[in-house]
Amino acid sequence: MTGELRRLEETALEELRGVTSTEGLEGWRIAYLGRRARLTSILRSVGHLPAEQRPTAGQEANRVRLALEQAYHEKVEALRREEVSRQLREEQIDVTLPGRLVEPGYLHVITRTLRDIYAIFAEMGFQVLETPEVETDVNNFQLLNIPPFHPARDMWSTFHTTREGVLLRTHTSPGQIRAMRAYCPGPIRVILPGKCYRYEQVTARHESMFYQVEGLAVGYHVTMGDLKGVLTNFARKMFGAERKVRFRCSYFPFTEPSAEVDMDCIICQGQGCRVCDFTGWVEILGSGMVHPQVLRNGGYDPSVYSGFAFGMGPERVAMLKYCIDHVRYFYANDLRFLQQFA
Ligand code: FA5
Repeated sequence: MTGELRRLEETALEELRGVTSTEGLEGWRIAYLGRRARLTSILRSVGHLPAEQRPTAGQEANRVRLALEQAYHEKVEALRREEVSRQLREEQIDVTLPGRLVEPGYLHVITRTLRDIYAIFAEMGFQVLETPEVETDVNNFQLLNIPPFHPARDMWSTFHTTREGVLLRTHTSPGQIRAMRAYCPGPIRVILPGKCYRYEQVTARHESMFYQVEGLAVGYHVTMGDLKGVLTNFARKMFGAERKVRFRCSYFPFTEPSAEVDMDCIICQGQGCRVCDFTGWVEILGSGMVHPQVLRNGGYDPSVYSGFAFGMGPERVAMLKYCIDHVRYFYANDLRFLQQFA
């Protein structure tokens, strides 16, 4: 039995030297140290040997088992070390490679247009004031001379919320009431930018979500001449002195008199296209002298104070400045369009 154990030990160690993978090592362990291995059955059979042979055979069998177990554990460690150095070799990071270029972001074309608008009005002494997008029916309509069921409500197709009397503002004009109530009785020169929402069919010039920049000036002796001067100066600065501006009589319940301002259509050079509805002109804003009742609602005495207001659409301004023939492009998130303004 001693001879068989020695041969077994030699063969096992010889085979172990040739093992190069963890799968191979597991196969070796099952073959030489597993439950059905020859060594295991020898160890089990020691008890059946004659008493005088048992000690020598038992000691030798245990020595071989310990030797094989130790060799096995050393091989496990050797394979692990080999695996680590292989990984280090193959997954080496070349720190000399140039890094990947991080592309800087850029402002959305409407954000840029809004900032251009703020800069022009800042030069004329207008401050920017933020007002909420979710408004009350009272501010959005009633305090602007549009009572419930008044036909003028048809001019603003409205998204109502499930809470009675609360809606998504259809224009930035309710900001006039907020600004007046915040500053009364002081003089006011503010612009109120922000998003507006209308339940409208999308056309080349109409979106259901769009921006407006409201303007409001209140003080002593503010006249229609001031309104025309401010808006003409804005148009010159934004579009250049050569572009044409037109003031057209209009109607808004909260201004009297009222006017709309059009620019000549840059897209068709005044020839007529779908953007200008084949008129050669594109409306960019509504405006007028603040109605006496609206001044009163804001806390001002109309026999002492007067004011002008306007509400312009920055999308229309951007369309006319950059020759864009559909409002839908702005919020469609198509990078091919947006990257042109990078
Ligand atoms: C108003 O909303 C008034 N609140 C403007 C105003 C303010 C008048 C202060 C008098 C005094 P209007 O509905 O015309 O008016 O809209 C004003 C501007 O917002 C338009 O000239 C246009 O540039 C822009 N606009 C209106 N509706 C849309 C829309 N659906 N999509 C994109 N721009 C729009």
